[in-house]
Parts: sequence; structure tokens; C-alpha cells
Amino acid sequence: MNQTSTFAQTPALMPLICIDRIEETADAATFAFRTHDAKPVDYKPGQFVIFQVDVADEQLHRAYSLSSTPSRPEHVAITIKRVPGGRVSNHLLDHLKPGHMLRAMPPAGEFNLIDRPSTGKLVLLSAGSGITPCISIARWLLDTTPQADIQFVYSARSPADVIMAAELARLHDAHDNFKLIRIVDQDPVEGDIQGPLDAALFERLIPDLQGRTIFTCGPAGYMQAIESFASARDFDMKYFHKESFVPATANAASADDAISYELQAPQFGKSARIDSSQSLLQVLESAALPVIGACRAGVCGSCKCRVVSGEVSSRSTATLSEADIAAGYVLACSTQARSDLVIEI
Ligand SMILES: Cc1cc2nc3c(=O)[nH]c(=O)nc-3n(C[C@H](O)[C@H](O)[C@H](O)COP(=O)(O)OP(=O)(O)OC[C@H]3O[C@@H](n4cnc5c(N)ncnc54)[C@H](O)[C@@H]3O)c2cc1C
Ligand code: FES
Repeated sequence: MNQTSTFAQTPALMPLICIDRIEETADAATFAFRTHDAKPVDYKPGQFVIFQVDVADEQLHRAYSLSSTPSRPEHVAITIKRVPGGRVSNHLLDHLKPGHMLRAMPPAGEFNLIDRPSTGKLVLLSAGSGITPCISIARWLLDTTPQADIQFVYSARSPADVIMAAELARLHDAHDNFKLIRIVDQDPVEGDIQGPLDAALFERLIPDLQGRTIFTCGPAGYMQAIESFASARDFDMKYFHKESFVPATANAASADDAISYELQAPQFGKSARIDSSQSLLQVLESAALPVIGACRAGVCGSCKCRVVSGEVSSRSTATLSEADIAAGYVLACSTQARSDLVIEI
């Protein structure tokens, strides 16, 4: 991690200086940053930034949602939860402190209150580190829209695992239009609801679901459950929005029945074997080709590349326009080969 004094500006990356660190739980902390020239960061509530982090001798990229609100532009904040064995989350939680500088790409992401269809009544459902975009959306609405109606449903293993516990309680006490519902799986304290969140509990907690907008972020199984509870109640899914933090690992073909193809990158004079269970990103990285895989989940767009010839299967085209898709662009993290390929980065 660089100290501010040793920073040399990298084009297209914005230097962010850490100005505060707050321990949230035993395995999560919030970090506040300011820009090096104190100019505000332009972002929408719910968006993320991609940090470039040097770990050992490797340059890694990871996405972190901004938990701060654009309505308070004096700083931006992220909240990181430790992933067991994870390279960047452990590195940042172990080393990042005020005075350090990180480089970040400009904020991005479609999971935000401005671009997604939304009603003034929200239900924000999150679990674990998934609280970050939801709290940003809530904070922004509370600052800008007095008539907003927010149900904030947060799930954690136990009260000790509740991220931003004090801030959630403060918002609940300070705003009549912010209702906090804390669900814990074990050791509930006064005011907590014993989880897990099932269809009956969901219905009991949010009887007035119709007319609300759902934003949800958490583990895949959690969001799948919310989606199925909502659709079972004939919810208008145009107002259902979810964000995944976890790399897409579910492969269409298992490693056992994978078929091997050739991938060529003539631009760099390189070719490599790719099997149908691998993502393009895995193979491009192994071949040391210059691709950035920041989210590995098909949401950030950093791994966009073009299939010049060949057949592929893609799980996500989230950040691609229709023109991009027509021109052969894919997200390498979410795309697998179905024939020999020629690609361009
Ligand atoms: C749009 C977006 C926003 C994000 N916002 C946040 C945020 O606000 N706060 C936050 O803490 N994280 C957030 N993440 C996750 C973050 O980008 C990293 O994936 C996470 O910190 C793990 O990185 P790592 O280098 O420590 O783990 P890695 O070394 O990349 O992975 C180690 C192992 O953990 C698995 N893994 C990776 N990420 C996760 C995860 N999130 N949960 C469970 N298993 C995982 C990997 O598949 C791998 O097996 C976000 C991700 C995306 C795509
Ligand atoms: S790495 Fe983010 S979309 Fe592929």
C-alpha cells in the first residue's frame, strides 16, 4: 500500500486517500477516503468503485460498493468484510489505515437508485457485506427525499455480526420514514427478529410489498430466496433489483466433461488452450494477457473483450450495449468457449 507521499499518478485511476477507519465487527471495517485534490467523487447511490491493490508482487483489482452517499460529498466510504483466504479483503483489513492511498477506477454500476426503475417506497434487503449499496441508497433518500418510505431489512448471523449496527439504530431513531428490521440467526437481542428469513416471515414483515421497489444484495441463495418470495406474491419484477458480490463460478460444463478448444489473441501473438468449463478470463489471465477481472461476477465491465470469431456462451452481458453485443463484445469473466476462438482485448 502506498503512502501519500510516494504516489505517482496513474492515468484513468483516481487516487483516494484514506482519512478514517471504523471497526464494524470482528471481520469488517469501514474506510473513509477523500480525493487527493479534495474534489467530490461523482457517483450514484448504490454504485461501486474498483480498487487496484498491490498484494505481494501482484496487481489485483476488486470492486467495493460505496456505502457513503453522494449527498454528503466531503468523503466517500467503503465497508470491507473479510473473506476467508481472500487476498485483497485480508490485505486491506490487515494494512489499510488513515494516510494510505489507494487507486480506484471511477464509480460504476447499474445497481443504483437513479438508473433503476423505482417507486418512492423501498424495501432494502441485505445480508453480510451486502449492506453497503443498500445503506448508500437509504442515506441518499433520507437526505434528499423527505416523503420516501424505507424498510431496511438486514440479516446477520448474530448481533455481533451486524455491520453498521450503531448507524442503523441511529437512522431508525432519527427518521420516522426509515424502519429497521434486524434479523439474526442466533442470540437475538431486544428488537431483533429470529431468522432465517423465510416466505412466511417475509410476508409478515412486509405486508405492503406491492407498490414498493426491492433492492437486495447478499449471498446468492439469500437473493434467490427473496426473488422467489416476491414473485410468489405477484410482485412486479420490474421493481426487483439485485447485486451479487460473489464471482460467478457455476459453470455450464463440469471440468470432467469439458471440451478443449484453442483460443488465439493475434494482437499479442499468443494462443492458449481453453476448455469449456473455464471462463475466458481465467485463460486470458493465465496467458498473462492484459485483462482486468475486477468483480468476476459480470457486473463491472472491466473484463470486456471482443470475440472476433467462434462460438461462446455468456451468463452476463450486464454492462454491454446492444451495439457492443452486435460487434461481438463479451464479458470474459462470464463467458465460456463453445468452439475455437479468436479474441481481441
Ligand atoms: C459490484 C461488487 C461490489 C462489491 N462490494 C463489496 C463491499 O462493499 N464489501 C465487501 O466486503 N465486498 C464487496 N465485494 C466483493 C469484493 O469485490 C471481493 O470479491 C471480496 O473482498 C473478496 O476478495 P478477495 O480478494 O479477498 O478474495 P479472492 O482472493 O478473490 O477470493 C477468495 C475466495 O473467496 C471467494 N469469494 C470472493 N468474493 C467473495 C465474497 N464476496 N463472498 C464469499 N466468497 C467470495 C472466491 O470465489 C475465492 O474462492 C463486491 C463485489 C462486487 C462484484
Ligand atoms: S470482471 Fe467485472 S464484468 Fe467481468
